Amino acid sequence: MHVNGKTFRALWADENRKSVNIINQTKLPFSFEIDNIGTYEGLVTAIKDMQLRGAPLIGVAGAYAMWLACMESQKSENPVSFLEKAYDDIRTARPTAVNLAFAVSLIYRTIKESDQYKEWPERALKACNDFYETEVGNFIKIGNSGLEIIQQIAEKKKGEKINILTHCNAGWLACGDYGTATAPIYRAHEMGLPIHVWVDETRPRLQGAKLTAWELYNEGISFTVIADNTGGYLMQEGKVDMVIVGADRVALNGDVANKVGTYLKALAAFDNNVPFYVAIPSSTIDFKLAEGVHHIPIEIRENAEVSEIDGINDNNKINTISIMPPGYPSLNFAFDITPAKFVTGLITEKGIIEASAKEISKIFSEYVNY
Ligand code: MRU
Repeated sequence: MHVNGKTFRALWADENRKSVNIINQTKLPFSFEIDNIGTYEGLVTAIKDMQLRGAPLIGVAGAYAMWLACMESQKSENPVSFLEKAYDDIRTARPTAVNLAFAVSLIYRTIKESDQYKEWPERALKACNDFYETEVGNFIKIGNSGLEIIQQIAEKKKGEKINILTHCNAGWLACGDYGTATAPIYRAHEMGLPIHVWVDETRPRLQGAKLTAWELYNEGISFTVIADNTGGYLMQEGKVDMVIVGADRVALNGDVANKVGTYLKALAAFDNNVPFYVAIPSSTIDFKLAEGVHHIPIEIRENAEVSEIDGINDNNKINTISIMPPGYPSLNFAFDITPAKFVTGLITEKGIIEASAKEISKIFSEYVNY
């Protein structure tokens, strides 16, 4: 997608074929910086510290971290145990997004098809590139599926503005390219539909205000950033035509783990008859987990993310300030779980499907006993 008119992905293998480049998302929207990372541990740190984030991108980054580990293993006395350790470190970097375990296991299996460890780096790089391109292809399909829903709303609204509410950042920064929740929005904009996006600021890390708004700004799409608790009121006032969010993990029964606050938006949407859609590639579905509520592991992050906030000062420097006195207790659950009954539909690479075990198992039967 576009940054100042130039095309970028959120992560790419460097042309030196020795390292990975990432857009450092902790600096946006104030500063556009690209970090070059040459070790698997460096990528694990970038995932943990959220220099890159978003479930699908974490998956892609985990895959490329395995490639870096394969190259590093060549210099190790015991390449097999080096790789085993890397596999564990990478897979567990963040607990909620299932894309990470999915992608890392995929690459690990491909590598282990050869016992010639000298072949591992090439095998891994090819598998990473194939996986990344498949994911990007899936985001394009998600965009086309979601477009159909927006077109139906557009027909009813007869040229009036279509208001879509989204939470967190499920855009191209979170995925590598196009995004999940934003893919239908980008497609609708391309088709000339009059789209306006309500962007939840998304406390505590402000992925909405800092990242989704930045993406939409760069694509020339109309948006308004709102405080997280505004959505319910807007829905009551008829100012939201649909909600689209992404997800970090969807259980087989269609329960959805996404950025904390998503559940409250789903409740408000349900109460106001506003369609609530979740856009996901199949790599976000945990086919082994029957139910999500009480079962999807929810990451607890540092309290400082709640008690501090950063922004830009008059000297154009990013500054962090405390928003409460030191010692006040705080708690930072990074995600919550929306029960499937509040989800109008899942927008997937295979079309719009019901959030239910029956439908997910039918449509993605090739993965169910995976
Ligand atoms: O903690 P984050 O920023 O990695 O959380 C990201 C989200 O919750 C996104 O909404 C989700 O991963 C969907 S991304 C397409």
